[in-house]
Amino acid sequence: MLEASKKKRVAVLISGRGSNMEALIEASKHPDCPYQITLVFSNIAEAKGLETAKKAGIETAILDHRGHGGRAAYDRKVLDILKAANADIVVLAGYMRIITPEFVAAWEGRMLNIHPALLPSFTGLDTHQRALDAGVKLHGCTVHFVTAELDAGPIIAQASVPVLDEDTEETLAHRVLKQEHRIYAEALKDLAAGNLILKDKRVFHRKG
Ligand code: GAR
Repeated sequence: MLEASKKKRVAVLISGRGSNMEALIEASKHPDCPYQITLVFSNIAEAKGLETAKKAGIETAILDHRGHGGRAAYDRKVLDILKAANADIVVLAGYMRIITPEFVAAWEGRMLNIHPALLPSFTGLDTHQRALDAGVKLHGCTVHFVTAELDAGPIIAQASVPVLDEDTEETLAHRVLKQEHRIYAEALKDLAAGNLILKDKRVFHRKG
């Protein structure tokens, strides 16, 4: 069992449902998990994931993104919230905001995102429909470090799923989401345990 004081403090940023956040909470319940989720933050007051976090006894914070005089001013306030929470790692889990270069720089190498596609294919939005439209036979998800360029940071983990003839956007999204939950928790554990080595654009896993 790892003492709480030895676990990395993780802030999770969400904008909606929060199923990835929930998977990360579940994984954190293992006594040897190298991280604890100490804050769930949302830019949307109605985000369903906030309720899930509260039920799990996790502190939550909300700051609506409207009315702060621009993206930079808003992001500075979010940075203050993360600093006040003493976070070691920031995890974007369906946080549907483009973040400023200043925000990215503050968390370089310590901020993860999950994207519902096999990057570098299908960056941006509507990834499942675009995968269907493109006729790809494999689709999936990617966990990556966040850099200033959207959905382009060094890749930590990926999982692929087959695209079936009968798939709709919903069925494909569901199949990918299950994999998201699995690889996100694994990637976060690896980062929190200090098992990831970043060299240029590549991420290596420390052996042994
Ligand atoms: C997830 O599929 C995640 O990969 C995606 O939003 C969904 C959030 O679901 N993120 C992005 O598209 C980021 N550009 P969740 O709130 O249930 O975790």
